[in-house]
Amino acid sequence: MTLTINADRLLRELHHLASLTDCPPTEDKSLPEPTQAVTRIVFTPHDLEARAWLISLAEAAGFRVRADAVGNTFLRFAGSAPTLPAIGTGSHTDAIPHAGMYDGTVGVLGGLEAMRSLKESGFVPRRSIETLIFTSEEPTRFGIGCIGSRLLGGVIDPAAADQLHDRLAETDPTAPEGLTLRDVRTAAGFTGSLATVKLPADYYHAWVELHIEQGPLLERDGRASQNEEIVLGIVTNIAAPASYRYIIEGFGGHAGALLMPDRSDALCAAAELILAVERHTLAANAASHGVDSVATVGTVAAHPGAVNSVPSRVTLMLDIRDTNVARRDATMNALHADIREIEARRHVAITEDPINADIPARSDQHILDTLEDVCKQEAVPYKKMVSRAYHDSNFMARVAPIAMLFIPCRAGVSHRPDEYATPGSIALGTRILARTLAVLANE
Ligand code: GLV
Ligand code: MN
Ligand code: MN
Repeated sequence: MTLTINADRLLRELHHLASLTDCPPTEDKSLPEPTQAVTRIVFTPHDLEARAWLISLAEAAGFRVRADAVGNTFLRFAGSAPTLPAIGTGSHTDAIPHAGMYDGTVGVLGGLEAMRSLKESGFVPRRSIETLIFTSEEPTRFGIGCIGSRLLGGVIDPAAADQLHDRLAETDPTAPEGLTLRDVRTAAGFTGSLATVKLPADYYHAWVELHIEQGPLLERDGRASQNEEIVLGIVTNIAAPASYRYIIEGFGGHAGALLMPDRSDALCAAAELILAVERHTLAANAASHGVDSVATVGTVAAHPGAVNSVPSRVTLMLDIRDTNVARRDATMNALHADIREIEARRHVAITEDPINADIPARSDQHILDTLEDVCKQEAVPYKKMVSRAYHDSNFMARVAPIAMLFIPCRAGVSHRPDEYATPGSIALGTRILARTLAVLANE
């Protein structure tokens, strides 16, 4: 089969998708390549516009489209044996505030392009091939990531998911308060019980997600290679993410009149907690001579948030990930001991609210072998690697054999407007994805 990826079409579409953003057009001329800051929160007008446009592309290509109750959208290239378990690919199109234009979108438009180019080359798959657009991979709006894939994989209780609190009003003063996922999805046109979303274990024969690496390793390897080739990543496992919300209650008041001995400054206690997170994570890496433990406090809200008021309450969110769950647990245990000590010494009360504590995903050996074979046949260099970012594939792993394919991104930058992947890497990743889907679809 001669297979030509229409890279111009794919790039054009990526740029169009990037234009569906809440950020104004990017003026930053200092960047070596044009990029666009993208904010596209799930179920906002730009997200819904992006979905409708992607559906129109899929329909124009002759693919069947269906959406489930949470809005996960399946674009299906029907196979000659349509009752057999299908082959899945895809990713997400939602973007955190002020993000880049490649995270997730490369996997969605790359999946669609892979199916289109296979179809245009006359290929008729035995098993159907689907490109999935997941709902809410990013935790921005509902506080937890991968809602669509958690429901598909049966990892979250459907009734609890429906009650997830809509946090849009925290950053958008025009957004209504007090809504739940159920309200928001219903308003977006996705109705029915979330219990219907879970996939049967034999729905997919194999699942492969294409994504930018979001780290620097592939670009480094490419630079070090003889002809500065593009090196792809074949993902063997995905690190286990967990996240927690902390509320630190102290005693605040007037910044002039409340004397230092009489304060229980919640923000000072928060600062100690944040540094304890960093200390224990560094210690975990040092003890294992590795780099696989990572932890981040990415949000801090101080109450009342005035320069002349001692903070009485702080809310912060911790994101902690590890390839080894036992090591992640040990880091959390060490943190808990510090928290008790900070509480006693600073006279504050610290409550911890676990949001999620997921397990790592391991890729399926047969899909890994298939990806390797395809790379070898196409003489494309590759590296086997761990994904430290989480992905919807984490949760698809509960109901399907999975693997992921990474393409390099500039300097490993992601979740920033200057996120960038070269057209060559995008086209190459899409070609290897298409060939892999074709092999798996004919099994
Ligand atoms: C996904 O966006 C992640 O935070 O890993
Ligand atoms: Mn992301
Ligand atoms: Mn992503």
